[in-house]
Amino acid sequence: MNDLKGIFITFEGIEGSGKSTQVRMLVDAFEKHGIAYLCTREPGGTEISEAIRSILLNPQFESMKPETELLLYCASRAQHTGELILPALADGKVVVCDRYYDSTYAYQGAARELDEELIDTLTKFVTYGRVPDITFLIDLPVEIGLARIQGRNLDRLEKETTEFHQRVRQQFLSIANKCPSRYFVLNGSEDAVSIHQQIFTMVQSLLGE
Ligand code: TMP
Repeated sequence: MNDLKGIFITFEGIEGSGKSTQVRMLVDAFEKHGIAYLCTREPGGTEISEAIRSILLNPQFESMKPETELLLYCASRAQHTGELILPALADGKVVVCDRYYDSTYAYQGAARELDEELIDTLTKFVTYGRVPDITFLIDLPVEIGLARIQGRNLDRLEKETTEFHQRVRQQFLSIANKCPSRYFVLNGSEDAVSIHQQIFTMVQSLLGE
């Protein structure tokens, strides 16, 4: 189903990995180079998906079942992909998405220990079969990432234990190993400008520039 014209780029990483900074830097470069893009995020991106995001991240909802959590992330993705991402790709835009379904395998699959085959089935359904063209994983030791976010108002997922976030990190690395043609792993301990340059070089080659 990857026959749509645009290019679909996703960013993944643990909390505090610096991926949102990299998303902003990439989009700034698109602005400078006059490249048509859509910048979005998960969970979120559309009115309905942002409403689901506020339920998912609300730290008061401590009693949320892992099953509920999985289905809400998937519900948000179905709306977001169908309403925003696929039309933008059909328009020929470069879509940059801060997190996508690999986060579900990492957080709900590895960390919450939900069934991977179920996640496979749900993922195919809610992405309409669209796979990202390239995924940038900003990898970083969990202790460094969690130290970076201290002092913020932590959301429901950020408040999880170090062990939980270790499982998330290991799963991202394992997916990257299994999908080397889609994944590009960057060292999140390097400075932001050098990470950005590596990402933009890769994106330029994808765009054939
Ligand atoms: P963000 O803070 O990077 O915007 O992501 C929101 C949180 O949601 C983050 O803790 C990761 C989590 N998440 C999942 O658990 N599963 C998912 O499928 C997605 C997209 C995010």
